[in-house]
Amino acid sequence: PKRERPVIAIDGPAGAGKSTMAAHLARRFGFLNLETGAMYRALAFKAIDNDLGFEDEDALVALADETRIVLEPQLEGNRVFLDGVDVSRRVREADVTAAASKVSVHPRLRAWMVDQQRLMGQKGGVVMEGRDIGTVVFPDAEVKIFLDAAPEVRGNRRYRQSGPVQTKFTEQSSTTEEAMVRELKERDERDRNRAESPLRPAEDAIILDSTSMTLDEVLAAAEAIVRSHVAEP
Ligand code: DC
Repeated sequence: PKRERPVIAIDGPAGAGKSTMAAHLARRFGFLNLETGAMYRALAFKAIDNDLGFEDEDALVALADETRIVLEPQLEGNRVFLDGVDVSRRVREADVTAAASKVSVHPRLRAWMVDQQRLMGQKGGVVMEGRDIGTVVFPDAEVKIFLDAAPEVRGNRRYRQSGPVQTKFTEQSSTTEEAMVRELKERDERDRNRAESPLRPAEDAIILDSTSMTLDEVLAAAEAIVRSHVAEP
């Protein structure tokens, strides 16, 4: 059955600004924003908590089968509940971030995620954000945006977002930003080069490169793309 409301798919590498874009579009058009990365993060956190190896697909899938992950859309981003517990903050930490990229290579774990994501979006009226939304989860999405930016720019934005800790006892060195760019590049490489559902733009995605755009320009461009594809508000 045809959905009554559209699905907006936003894909792209880490730090490109997908979550900000998804939250903005959701507010503008009255849709729900869903951050699928938070689901991979939540499962990765549970794997760490259970001392599972990130390469053990059987164990990870068995773990997933006894796991309930709920995304709760907020004005800014999603709250994430893992088996009823709010893990929103924990799943953003560096160890879970790296682990999420590692567990997400497994085809059967991805299938588990994709099934739930399709259910979450089946009625439409959602802005779903991730790596494979336009290619795999909703290949028939009404709007597909692939948001990209140069790695250095993404690393720098992340760095400023995370708010460098500066006290009179610590000197803020450039290594922190360098480390962040390095971590981002490693994660990208893994996300782009995995065999199953690698990060890539769908054939019919509109590619937006925000390297030399301001946030306002990016959000205005995204809004215009949605308006031109969707006959709604
Ligand atoms: O979007 P994010 O940074 O929260 O995603 C965390 C990791 O999860 C990312 O490195 C790759 C994986 N991921 C994925 O494989 N497919 C998605 N749809 C979303 C995230």
